[in-house]
Amino acid sequence: MSKTYKIAVIPGDGTGPEVVAEGRKVLNAASAKFGFKLEFTEFDFGAARYLKTGETLPDSAIDEFRKFDSMFLGAIGHPDVKPGILEAGILLKIRFALDQYINLRPVRLYPNVETPLKDKGPEHIDFIVIRENTGGIYTGHGGATRVGTTEEIATQIMVYDRRTVDRCLKYAFELKKKRNAQDPKYAAKPITLIHKRNVLTHCGDLWYRAFEEMGAKHYPELKRDYNHIDAANMWFVKNPEWFDVAVTENLFGDIITDLGAMIQGGLGVASGGNINPEGVSMFEPMGGSAPKYAGQKVINPMAAIGAAMMMLDTLGETKPAQAIDAAMIAVMKKMKSQAAGKMGYSTTEIGDMVAGLV
Ligand code: IPM
Ligand code: MN
Repeated sequence: MSKTYKIAVIPGDGTGPEVVAEGRKVLNAASAKFGFKLEFTEFDFGAARYLKTGETLPDSAIDEFRKFDSMFLGAIGHPDVKPGILEAGILLKIRFALDQYINLRPVRLYPNVETPLKDKGPEHIDFIVIRENTGGIYTGHGGATRVGTTEEIATQIMVYDRRTVDRCLKYAFELKKKRNAQDPKYAAKPITLIHKRNVLTHCGDLWYRAFEEMGAKHYPELKRDYNHIDAANMWFVKNPEWFDVAVTENLFGDIITDLGAMIQGGLGVASGGNINPEGVSMFEPMGGSAPKYAGQKVINPMAAIGAAMMMLDTLGETKPAQAIDAAMIAVMKKMKSQAAGKMGYSTTEIGDMVAGLV
């Protein structure tokens, strides 16, 4: 009997629904070809619902999501909603409540995709950032007093405990082990911890010791390296080929993965996964809701298709994921550019082409 996967879909705002439709199209093509079933359930959380009802995401929705095998998110965000409301109320709420403690961000330059880095090609840009996704400054510790006065004080505290650090590091080491076994070019490179332990002497020290201890005890065969976050920014641009698996805390990971998205060809191709290895994960294109492109069918759906591929891979459907990857490469070779409006094809045409080649 073939497997059935239940997928919760949040198309969201702006161009979110357009790219999610193409991701679903490709998933359906993979399911028809490889003989597994997909059952999609759509949820209308996002700006439109918030502006109408004042509700972001009720707790009952979280309980609902727990019943699914995976989740697929388009984009959340609208110019009429104050920054922070939908982010905290929907995206971060899901990540935290479902304990999606890994933010997995492949930074891979596909063939025929333009990178702003001079003299760098797909052989130089092929690594994965693992961003811790439930701790750090994102936990909301801190506050503000004397607001609005000249004596106003604001704090926003970086919080980490050993368990949160260890489970993230374990995921990173295991992934590195897997990649080393896949290809000697990965095995030649280290796993890199990124932090700022020269200044963040408490959190940085916790991460560094945990990394060194786990590495020495359980993964002695893996080469370890450490970069300060500021230096890592520099090396991502100058020597991206040094990296294979880079692991870091939440905010540093947020910042450096946008840099990663740019060097791999922009937000049109950058995908990410919010992963709970023991629970329900959520996959999303990295780009925002891009309201100015909404409804025009000019947005690039590759990032959403890549997110769909990551979803299948995480569900254990490796072959279909590889087929989608190959189809994406073939279509990218035909595209003029990965930038919205300059692709040489419409959003739906790209989805059709990838689906046709899976
Ligand atoms: C991301 C985003 C989010 C984050 C925002 C929208 C809250 O930038 O997924 O990288 O900061 O994590
Ligand atoms: Mn971000």
